[in-house]
Amino acid sequence: MIQRFMPSLALASLLTVSLGAQAEEAIDAQALVDRNCTSCHGTEVYTRDERRVESFDALHSQVRMCEQNLELTWFDDQIDAVTTLLNREYYNFAP
Ligand code: HEC
Repeated sequence: MIQRFMPSLALASLLTVSLGAQAEEAIDAQALVDRNCTSCHGTEVYTRDERRVESFDALHSQVRMCEQNLELTWFDDQIDAVTTLLNREYYNFAP
């Protein structure tokens, strides 16, 4: 009984791991921004002279703050992906 049960348990956890990895790769940060983040400000807010975000961590917090204001209930993965995108495209902080 146990011998038949164990392999399927191992298989199930393998499946979970690979599905998790797939979900992460599938995050389209640009689509998330385009869909949710352009109604109040465009990209000009990321490049303006008097922009407020001064570090990668601050950018992460700001993304979370705007996301929470909008009650989007994003996963951490999605916050991370959008922070990485905005940093790559506009802020260029060393992470
Ligand atoms: C409900 C309106 C609203 C929406 C929608 C919104 N934001 Fe914001 N966001 C603001 C406001 C207000 C500020 C502060 C602007 C200021 O300081 O003049 C801001 C500032 C920012 C900044 C900092 C800009 C700087 O000064 O460096 C970032 C980064 C940012 N938002 C990301 C996002 C992201 C990512 C989304 C989508 C999840 C989003 N925002 C959607 C209102 C919004």
